[in-house]
Order: sequence, then structure tokens, then C-alpha cells
Amino acid sequence: MKFTWLIGSTFLPWTCAQHAGTVVPEESPSLVIQECTKAGGCQDEKAGLVLDSNWRWVHNVGGYQNCFSDKGWNPTFCPDPESCKKNCSLEGVTAKGYKKTYGVREIDDGRGVKLDFMTQGGNVGSRLYVTDGEESYKMFKLLNREFTLDVDVHKLNCGMNGAVYFIEMDKDGGKGKDGNLAGAKFGTGYCDAQCPHEKFETNASRGICCVEMDIWEANKHATAFTPHPCSTVGPQKCMGDIECGYGENGERWMGLCDKDGCDLNTYRMGAKTFYGNGSSFAVDSNEPLTLVTQFITHDGTDEGNLTEIRRLYIQHGKVIANAASRIPNVTGSAITDGFCNAQKKAFGDYDHHQKLGGLVSMGETLKRGMVLSVSIWNDYATHMAWLDASFPPGENASERLGVLRGPCNATLSNPTVLRPKNKNGWVKYYNIRYGEIDSTYSASGSARRLDDIGAVFV
Ligand SMILES: *[C@@H]1O[C@H](CO)[C@@H](O)[C@H](O)[C@H]1NC(C)=O
Ligand SMILES: *[C@@H]1O[C@H](CO)[C@@H](O)[C@H](O)[C@H]1NC(C)=O
Ligand SMILES: *[C@@H]1O[C@H](CO)[C@@H](O)[C@H](O)[C@H]1NC(C)=O
Ligand SMILES: *[C@@H]1O[C@H](CO)[C@@H](O)[C@H](O)[C@H]1NC(C)=O
Ligand SMILES: *[C@@H]1O[C@H](CO)[C@@H](O)[C@H](O)[C@H]1NC(C)=O
Ligand SMILES: *[C@@H]1O[C@H](CO)[C@@H](O)[C@H](O)[C@H]1NC(C)=O
Ligand SMILES: *[C@@H]1O[C@H](CO)[C@@H](O)[C@H](O)[C@H]1NC(C)=O
Repeated sequence: MKFTWLIGSTFLPWTCAQHAGTVVPEESPSLVIQECTKAGGCQDEKAGLVLDSNWRWVHNVGGYQNCFSDKGWNPTFCPDPESCKKNCSLEGVTAKGYKKTYGVREIDDGRGVKLDFMTQGGNVGSRLYVTDGEESYKMFKLLNREFTLDVDVHKLNCGMNGAVYFIEMDKDGGKGKDGNLAGAKFGTGYCDAQCPHEKFETNASRGICCVEMDIWEANKHATAFTPHPCSTVGPQKCMGDIECGYGENGERWMGLCDKDGCDLNTYRMGAKTFYGNGSSFAVDSNEPLTLVTQFITHDGTDEGNLTEIRRLYIQHGKVIANAASRIPNVTGSAITDGFCNAQKKAFGDYDHHQKLGGLVSMGETLKRGMVLSVSIWNDYATHMAWLDASFPPGENASERLGVLRGPCNATLSNPTVLRPKNKNGWVKYYNIRYGEIDSTYSASGSARRLDDIGAVFV
């Protein structure tokens, strides 16, 4: 995710501190997920959630002075990234801190998490990773598998984004590499297909790239799922505006990663009454819903090539097929290379997706394993217009197909406008499960296959 169009406009305090702090104990929420088979049903699996390092307290080693504050990096400890790594520690977050400071709460007996958009202390948004041990992220291997979860997005208004996605981070968060002594326990090692700046990278021409598979980027008015293949294996540093895809002269489409991705947003594909706020929509975002994402191989084996990413919804016990595209010359309700190629052509978008190997390439990454991230955020750079409004800005939606992505007005989604109105916003993610195709869900209490779907929405 993080579709940053204007480079350098999302300024998070990219953490450069890499010592493991000892002042505050790390008390991450636990999370129970399930692994499913068709024969054996679903079994509980113990997991956890850890807050990304960028949200954490960073202070001088052996002391209590901030390395980072509202004023930016403290020049005494952090004249440059290398000194900063040596001089600063990344701290743990207590159970109370998760709740009060960051608005992250266990729900449903540890089977889910609620993320508040804002907290009284002034925190906005959060991003967490699923772990399978104190020092390791869980690597999900989803080729020829499906991934399912329940979401409640009814408090996510225009311009907000509750995102659930996979990225190819290191299992240990990069511990031991590059002066990083903290690791996955402290939420280090983030990378994605936008090649964000790593840590306190003073050089604006450097970033960290990796493959990204967006399962769910959504608010109550629009939603998209999007593969972003890259030429990388694991996190890879990029050097320069071309490799990183920065810059304003087409470099976006020259880098290591497909920043645009091949998105399937039903509103953008012309099915405007499929997903939205109310019971007149096929999928009602005012109510909790289950979403299933299937990674289908050409021959139905774990060794096959990824040929299709399929989505279906379950709500009120009914399986709802994803809406079919209504764009002329673009057919289908699932992501395939054919769908992507046709969509890029119809919308006049450059097909970086195919150039970087398309679904076959995405499938290889799914086979290697990816880390699951859950988050809630808003967007100074584009006001989330790429998800729920008109994008790119300045283009006339009635003259170019694909510009209109949702019913929102991006002017009103500027965080300065949006935040005061959405202080009580939140998102819930729960009942995370994965396993064989058609093993993780049932409708009306009895397991149903995809080919039994009654409510096909066209
Ligand atoms: C910070 O790190 C640099 C380089 O390692 C070192 O020279 C300097 O003394 C450190 N400053 C403090 C305050 O620890
Ligand atoms: C910034 O990074 C780029 C790409 O690696 C490099 O060419 C350039 O020399 C660097 N600039 C500085 C000031 O280090
Ligand atoms: C969502 O739907 C509810 C119920 O119909 C309505 O009251 C509310 O204004 C809608 N919100 C938006 C932003 O459309
Ligand atoms: C899988 O994809 C690769 C790369 O496109 C291709 O060379 C190979 O023939 C494909 N395998 C099958 C069985 O289609
Ligand atoms: C659809 O494809 C056909 C055949 O390539 C072409 O003639 C036609 O102009 C296309 N229609 C649109 C709306 O792009
Ligand atoms: C957008 O295009 C339509 C159709 O060509 C035109 O009527 C309208 O005036 C345009 N709007 C703007 C803001 O340029
Ligand atoms: C979007 O909201 C702004 C600010 O209220 C308003 O000026 C503008 O006309 C709106 N745009 C559309 C297309 O409704």
C-alpha cells in the first residue's frame, strides 16, 4: 500500500535507532489465528502483534533523552544515520501503552484487534505485524492457499484507510544486519513496493523496496486489492531516483517495484453499487463482513504458477461473488494477467505490472513467504484519492476511464480537515485464517464451495 504519489510528503519519523531498549518492557498483544484444511477444519494457532518501530520511543543509549521529537532528530545523538544507530535505543511498549498511547486493543478473546484512528495523547494511526514468536514475524506462504478475515470498517470515512497487506520483510526484522540490534521484537525492517525511505535516511534518493500484496485497502466507501510485484527477493535497498522509482519524470515506472500495482477496485471498474455504505449495496460496509482472497495456481498445486487472485465476500451468511468489471474491453471479477493487461490498456496506464513479471512473479513471492501487516492511516500526499475519489488530480473523470475510484471528494480528505471530524474512528480485524482453497469459510453455517455460490453479482 502507501500509494505515495508526491515523493517525500509522508514524513513519519523513520527510526534510525537500532539498539534494543531496556527501559520499557515489550508487552505486545497476543493474537489467535487459524490454519485450515478441508479435511480437518480449522485449528487455532498462537500468534502475536507487534507495533512498527516508527511509532516507538527512541532515546539515547543509557539515558532518557529523546533522539527524536516534534522538532525532528536530536543533532547531538543523530547528526547522521550511522551515529544515530550507535547512540539510540528503540523501546518496548507496555500493554497499557498499546491501549492508551497507540489505541491498539485485543478484541474477541484475542482473536482480533481494534485499531483506533486517533488517541487522546495525539497518536494518529498505527501499523502492526503478525509474529509467531518473541523475535520473529510469521511468514505466510499463500500460493495455492486462501487468506480470510473479518473486518468492521463502518467507522472509516472518506480519506481513511484500514489496510491489511503482505510484504516480503525479513523474518527477524533484519536483526543483526546494518547495525540493527532490535529486530522483529521492536517492529523493525519495514519495506514495501513504494520503496519508502529507510530509517533516518538523510539522502532523499535512497529507499527500501520489497514485494507487496494488498489484501484489503478500504474505508466504508471504496475498497481495493492489489498485487505489487518487484524484481526483488526480500528487502532490497534502492539507490537513486530510477531504481527507487522516485522523481517526476516517469521514474515511477522504471524502478524495482510496480508502485501502481494491478488494483481491483469494484467502483473503479464501474460496479458502483457493489460495495458501500448501506443495505442498497451488495456488500454493506456498515455491517461486519468476511473477505476471502484466493491465490489460484494454473494446475491447482503448490508448485504451479499463480494465475488468478480471486475475492469473495460473506455477509449475513451469504457468499457474495466479487462484481464483474463493467469497463468496455475489460472482463472478469478476479485479478489475472489478462485482466491487468486489459485494465491498463483501457485506463491508459503504463503496464509496469507485466513488466515485472505479473502474477507469476507475485506467486513466487507468495511461495517464499510474506509478513502480514495491519494498519489504519490517512494520507497527506494524495488524500487517499487513489482509493476513494478522483485520481490523478487534475484529470477529468468524465474524459478518462479509471480516474474515478470512489464517491469521495478528496478536498475534504486532507488530514487537517479529516482528523477533527474522525477522532472516534476505528477499524476491527478479527478471525484471521488461512489454508487450502475453500477451507476457511462457510455460508449459513455449512461449508460451501465457490462453485456453489448463489448470489452472483454481475
Ligand atoms: C554519537 O555517535 C557518534 C558516532 O558514533 C559519537 O562520536 C558521539 O560521541 C555520539 N554522541 C553521543 C552523545 O553519544
Ligand atoms: C545520495 O544517494 C545517491 C544514490 O545512492 C548517490 O548517488 C548520492 O551521491 C547520495 N548523495 C549524498 C549526498 O550522499
Ligand atoms: C451512510 O449511511 C447512513 C445510513 O444510510 C447515513 O446516515 C450516512 O449519512 C451515510 N454516510 C455517508 C458518508 O454517506
Ligand atoms: C510458469 O511461468 C513461467 C514464466 O512466465 C513460464 O516460463 C512457465 O512456462 C510457466 N509454467 C507453466 C506450467 O505454465
Ligand atoms: C475494444 O476493443 C476493440 C478491439 O480491439 C476496439 O476496436 C474498441 O475500440 C475497444 N473499445 C474500447 C471502448 O476501448
Ligand atoms: C469534464 O469533461 C466533461 C465532458 O467532456 C465536460 O463537460 C466538463 O466541463 C469537464 N469538466 C471540467 C472540470 O473540466
Ligand atoms: C469538494 O469539496 C470542496 C470543499 O467543500 C468543494 O469546494 C468542491 O466543490 C467539492 N467538489 C465536488 C466535485 O463536489
